[in-house]
Parts: sequence; structure tokens; C-alpha cells
Amino acid sequence: MIIAKTVPELRLAIKQSTFRSLGFVPTMGALHEGHISLIQHAAQENDLVVVSIFINPKQFGPHEDYYKYPRDLDNDLEILKNSGAHILFLPEDDVIYQSGDEVEIRLPQISSILCGKFRPGHFDGVALVLTKLFNIVAPNKAYFGQKDYQQTILIKKMVDYLFWNLEIIVCPTIRDEDGLAKSSRNRYLSNEDRKSALSLYTALCLAREKSKTCKDVEQLVREAKAYIASVPNVVLEYFEIRRAKDLKSINFLKEEAVALGAVYVNGTRLIDNILLTES
Ligand code: PAF
Repeated sequence: MIIAKTVPELRLAIKQSTFRSLGFVPTMGALHEGHISLIQHAAQENDLVVVSIFINPKQFGPHEDYYKYPRDLDNDLEILKNSGAHILFLPEDDVIYQSGDEVEIRLPQISSILCGKFRPGHFDGVALVLTKLFNIVAPNKAYFGQKDYQQTILIKKMVDYLFWNLEIIVCPTIRDEDGLAKSSRNRYLSNEDRKSALSLYTALCLAREKSKTCKDVEQLVREAKAYIASVPNVVLEYFEIRRAKDLKSINFLKEEAVALGAVYVNGTRLIDNILLTES
């Protein structure tokens, strides 16, 4: 696997590769089975796979975990060795953000709801870094996990609005055996915390089960929230059910819908979601 640290190095590595289709998996490192599955999907569908590791400072709020976000490059390199990735793009901050760089990419509607309401600026940071990364890597397809559902909707809309000739592929959430969605932030959780963290997935499953007979969104949300409130050591940030294709608010389940939530367990923020039609 080639490691490129600058834009010219990356462009040269891509230019020197023979390929028909380039698949791109952007990450912030601390790689786990969720990332591996994205890389495997990319390797199945493309003959050149580029992975990036860049902890994007612009998508963290001032009081968030940017400084303590897990960094484990040795382990990431070990994982990437046999993953199907051909090129790793590993830029420093000043490769992505040049001094005096004042460019902004905003999708105000999607960025201000759900996670965006509680993490102002987060999705602006995601949109900006992906704009830069897509322009640097120029992939044919880019791969993201369903766990970050709102992020996937934001990216699809951004690609659409900016006329990028790029296909966004959303891959299923990878879960531990107990159902907890794989996340780099799970490393912060003790065994006890994990039990509390599972309350979000259990509430999502309850909502999905109940939605087979009850179509009233308010009632489904109320019951899911009551369940989470009954579990010790969990602070609910939000739990909502929205239209799946664009995250618009709904009162009744008619079209495909998604239940999404965020909780804090012992200071660690976790998100998860489930399509209400998922089996
Ligand atoms: O999902 C992530 O890990 C990040 O938001 C992404 C897409 C790599 C952008 O920094």
C-alpha cells in the first residue's frame, strides 16, 4: 500500500495506477470492522481503492473530543495492510487547510436538524472536508456507513447540488454481537457503559417492532424515549422518527421512515439509527 501525505504525492500515486474505477473511503482513523466493511465494499466494486485518514478539526465543536479523539496509526496501518486498500492518503492539517483559507460549504437545512441542532457547525465541517477530499481524490464512488445516517443524506444532497460525477454508496451499519453499532468512540466505554449504551439500539428496535402496528410517530417516539429514560447512566440527547429520504418531519408512517437518536453515556456521545422497514 502506498502512503501519500501531500496532494501532489497522492495525485502521482493515482496517476501511476491503472484502473477503470476509483473507490474512496474517507475516515478519521481508529479503524474498526465498520471501516473494514466499507473498504471491502470498495474493493469489490472498484479496481483502485483510496482510503484517507484525517481527523478533521473543523467538524468538532470547541468543547468536543477533537484532542482526545482516538489516534492509533500503527494499528490502522496493520488493519489496512490486508484490507484491499491500495493507497492511503494521510495529510497533516495544513495540507487540507491552507492559511487564509476561508472557503465554506453549507447545507443549512440538513445541517441544523437532529445531530446538527446539538453540534452547530459539525456538518459544515464535514461538507467542507469532503468537498476538498473529493476534489483531491476525484473518486468514481465513495463509501459511507449507514450509522452516520444524517451525514449520508447531507453528502448525497451535496453531491447532487454541486453536480459531482460521483456515486455515494451507503453500506449497512456493522454491529457487535450485542447489537452496539461499531464506532471509534466505543473505545471510551467501560463494560458497564456498554450495557447503558445499548439502550439506544434497544429503543430503535422497539420503535421498529411497534411501527408494524402503530403508525403514530409521536407515540412511537414517546415510548422509545420512556425506555431510554428507564436505563441508568444514559442521557438522551434526541430520539426522532423522520422521512428516510430527506429527514423531513412526519406525523404518521406512510413512506419509508428512519428512527434516529443520540445519547450520552458517561460523557461519550453515541448515535445510531434504524430504518423502520429493516428486518
Ligand atoms: O464519518 C467520518 O468519519 C467523518 O465524518 C468523515 C466522513 C471521514 C469526514 O471527516
